[in-house]
Amino acid sequence: MYRILELLRRQEGFLSGEDIGRELSITRAAVWKGIKKLREEGYEIEAVTNRGYRLTNPETMYNKRELEQGLKTKTMGQTIYFYEETDTTNNRARELALEGAPEGTLVVAEKQTAGRGRRGKVWESPLGTGIWMSLVLRPQIMPAEASVLTLLCGLATAEAIEAETGLSAGIKWPNDILINGKKAVGILTEMDCEMSEVHFVIPGIGINVNTASFPPEIAEIATSLYLECGKTVSRRRLVHKVLERLEEHYETFLRTGSFAAMLEDYRKLCITLGKEVHVLGREPFFAEALDITSEGELLVRRADNGKEEVVFSGEVSIRGVI
Ligand code: BTN
Repeated sequence: MYRILELLRRQEGFLSGEDIGRELSITRAAVWKGIKKLREEGYEIEAVTNRGYRLTNPETMYNKRELEQGLKTKTMGQTIYFYEETDTTNNRARELALEGAPEGTLVVAEKQTAGRGRRGKVWESPLGTGIWMSLVLRPQIMPAEASVLTLLCGLATAEAIEAETGLSAGIKWPNDILINGKKAVGILTEMDCEMSEVHFVIPGIGINVNTASFPPEIAEIATSLYLECGKTVSRRRLVHKVLERLEEHYETFLRTGSFAAMLEDYRKLCITLGKEVHVLGREPFFAEALDITSEGELLVRRADNGKEEVVFSGEVSIRGVI
């Protein structure tokens, strides 16, 4: 039946049952059976007498097979686990990593029942509207370097959003992505390591893609790509773009051992720079965000004593922005 799917995918308009049967050397009854099975999997196939069949939702279908199709990467997403529902893709990816899942393994869920955000927050992950995905990465780096991976994911995701939707995506250091001042993407990176060795890193990326509305308590601060660009966005294409951009940045990072090569691109998208920020932590303070270092840290000038300081990780809120 997937051979039928491929033929329909390649065809612009209708394709007759007779042509499908001839092409695949199967009977028209077998074609009909295949069409029925594809419909059961969620593919919308229009059937019109004397014209044949037409795939009506090729861009909105989202499953393991669709994600595998046409992915142009070497490692990222070359092994895919797709769940209709799971608690959180970060947990699944962690379990798979412990069982030896290879570098670049991608875990995707249609719905998360216990989506996790940073600082113990819940990440709403409803069915069918977003991209809830985690990766297994096995870089040979020191634990202290791992925060750069989060920045790479943020950069790759922002670039992918711009490429797919034309929206301008701003990165709030280290890795929230804001569109027109509201958050559309969150990234939660978890790691398994010893003092001097990283076993694996699990970046979990959540993208509000086709969400039509948010509950009142977050509507002021959250948005989706659909709400910002006014059209349905293909999750399949967006996942592909994120993986492709991430693979390129990740390879550069491993080859050069630094964030320096991505710095210019990151700076351009980073909305934190030049702003007054509130650095949270054990002793919160106000500062001006000056620059990003070649290690991916935030360089700030403290408001209280005028001294420059490097912020490694943690929460930074921008004054006047969420
Ligand atoms: C944040 O901004 O607080 C981070 C949100 C991270 C959400 C993603 S969705 C995929 C992965 N699974 C989770 O439970 N969380 C991350």
